[in-house]
Amino acid sequence: RQVRQTPSDIRARKGGVPVACLTAYTTPMAKLVDRACDLVLVGDSVGMVLHGLPSTLGVTMEMMILHGRAVARGVERACLVVDMPFGSYEESPQQAMRNAARLLAETGCQAVKLEGGRHMAETVAFLVARGIPVMGHVGLTPQAVNALGGYKVQGRGADAERIADDAAALADAGAFAVVLEKLPESLGTRITQTILVPTIGIGAGAGCDGQVLVVDDMLGLFSDFRPKFVKRYEEMGEAAGHAISAYADDVRAGRFPAPEHGFSD
Ligand code: KIV
Ligand code: NA
Repeated sequence: RQVRQTPSDIRARKGGVPVACLTAYTTPMAKLVDRACDLVLVGDSVGMVLHGLPSTLGVTMEMMILHGRAVARGVERACLVVDMPFGSYEESPQQAMRNAARLLAETGCQAVKLEGGRHMAETVAFLVARGIPVMGHVGLTPQAVNALGGYKVQGRGADAERIADDAAALADAGAFAVVLEKLPESLGTRITQTILVPTIGIGAGAGCDGQVLVVDDMLGLFSDFRPKFVKRYEEMGEAAGHAISAYADDVRAGRFPAPEHGFSD
């Protein structure tokens, strides 16, 4: 059994072999991701992917704790990070500390992730100083969808400077890694070459120090949206649809159960 990856181990991967990350929300998926990846993220994307919410804004601490606990039971060697949900950290460093401490204490995760750039740097430093490793997240920050006017590519033109400054502020504040979401490849590469901690890209190009995807997206289990940055490694939703139809047809035609599925007296 390999040793557990820590946030420090992830930080030490800067400029080395790219860090492989995926989300997970349940124990069985966590076991599969843990076998292959370096970092497992319990993303607040759980709200849209598993609960049918229209955005991540309705995700609560209770949901993150429930899914965080389920995932923790399946993770042995990857670094486990849980997202701080909308409204649980923005008010003050104290509010963020209270809720981040709950996530670590009640799920067993090793770190939290929160969205936002320079305006969140003070909070990141506050948590890090008190023993909570933090992952940053800049560029397209889905919790700010209403302010951003949709899930658009960020950092084109003059906006590039602001996002590069946001990533640098988080790294300076002590974040052990920074997620870069939906940025031009050139900006992803430029930020990666500038900041001293790993960048974990999602739609930010191959120049990043690591990559992350929503696992249900790359498996074809979640199809409500199909972002360009998702590579479909399987079509599991389609396969499940065929299997479920075959089952229903078999039941209606009396083909299921067959003798081998029954019990003798
Ligand atoms: O919630 C999530 O799944 C995320 C990642 C995709 C970065 O924040
Ligand atoms: Na998230």
